[in-house]
Formats: sequence, structure tokens, C-alpha cells
Amino acid sequence: MNVLVLFAHPRSRTSVVQRAMLQAIAGLERVTIVDLYAEYPSLDIDVGREQQRLLEHEFIVLQHPFYWYSSPAILKEWQDLVLENGWAYGPGGTRLAGRFLMSAVSTGGSETAYREGGRNRFDVSEFLRPFDQTAHLCSMAYLAPFVVHAGRRLSPEALAAAAAAYRELITGLRDGAIDPLARLAEGYTLPPRFAGERR
Ligand SMILES: Cc1cc2nc3c(=O)[nH]c(=O)nc-3n(C[C@H](O)[C@H](O)[C@H](O)COP(=O)(O)O)c2cc1C
Repeated sequence: MNVLVLFAHPRSRTSVVQRAMLQAIAGLERVTIVDLYAEYPSLDIDVGREQQRLLEHEFIVLQHPFYWYSSPAILKEWQDLVLENGWAYGPGGTRLAGRFLMSAVSTGGSETAYREGGRNRFDVSEFLRPFDQTAHLCSMAYLAPFVVHAGRRLSPEALAAAAAAYRELITGLRDGAIDPLARLAEGYTLPPRFAGERR
């Protein structure tokens, strides 16, 4: 599968964790990385270009730091503009059907903070529900997220290990060594139009 990584970090020059993740997958064959803020500093997203990119890849990764329990703003703008009615969903909107979507995020909070009774009360997957349901509406498969918790507090070795695990996941999915359907998000049921409708 061809992999498209949509990278969204408004302060990428100061990034530590996302930078390590990005460097781990840089230059890989059949892995396209798009730095959304670098391409669209004024958020003036080229809808046609982004839709064409989606059509050229089967596996879409949304890579970003967790900002206010969600993504940085440009990913919302990207969804609002690119995932058009009649294209991504709705009558005749089957262009994304059969593709795969996965979030790859870093958080400031530790894993123990992201659970019932913890400081953030919910786990990361619950905060990502809008992406889960967006994938469902677009007849895509939504995978369990790749999460680096409290990455800035990791030792250099632990951060390097997390980045290497990310690279392994991306290359495994690309090469078919990892079955994406075996890594669906918890509780995710494949949408009825997932199979066979991609155009
Ligand atoms: C505006 C802003 C909002 C943030 N919101 C959250 C949040 O909701 N949950 C969280 O765990 N961390 C939050 N963080 C921390 C970042 O997720 C964390 O610093 C980042 O993932 C580290 O990656 P980086 O080194 O690539 O920036 C926030 C940081 C900023 C600047």
C-alpha cells in the first residue's frame, strides 16, 4: 500500500517528538509526507491537490501533536475543505471507500493521565472519536492510533525506540507484513461500503 502522512504541527521548528517520528519515516519509498503548515501557512488548502493525493494512496496517516485534546487547527480545516459531500461521503461519495485511516499522535500527558480517574479522564482513543466516525462516514477502516505519551519526558533512547516502532509500523503496513484489519480501533466496525467501492 502507498502511505500518505499528513503532518500537522504549527511549531515544527521547536518540535522534539514529532520531529523524531517524522525523521524515522523520512525518505521511505511509497511513503509520502506532506507538511500541511509548510504548504499552507495561511490555511488556504488546495482541495484538488489534496484530493488527488488521497486517491494516490491507500493508507492515510494523520500525524500531529495532541493539542487541546484534538489536532492542530489545520487538520480540521483540511477535513472541512477536502472531505467534500459527493466525493468523500454522501450520495456518490465513495472516493475514499476501502482506504485506511490512522492517527499518529504525541501527547504531553502520560499514559496514566489518559484513563478513567486520571487527569485527562478519558483515553486518547476517546478523544479521537471524531476521526473514527469521520473514517466511518467515508467508508474507510480506522485503525488504533499510534501514540507517544509524554514524549518530551522520555530519555533519548526511549524516544528513539518510539520513533523506530513508528517506522516499523508504517513500513509493515506499507509492505503488507502487518494486517491493518487486525489493528482496527477498539470497537470499530467496518462500514458497509468499505469493501469493493473504491474508485
Ligand atoms: C497549544 C498546545 C495544546 C496542547 N494540548 C495538549 C493536550 O490537550 N493534551 C496533551 O497531552 N498535551 C497537549 N499539549 C502538549 C503537546 O501535545 C506535546 O508538547 C507534543 O505532543 C510534543 O511533541 P513535539 O515535541 O513534536 O511538539 C499541548 C501543547 C500545546 C502547545
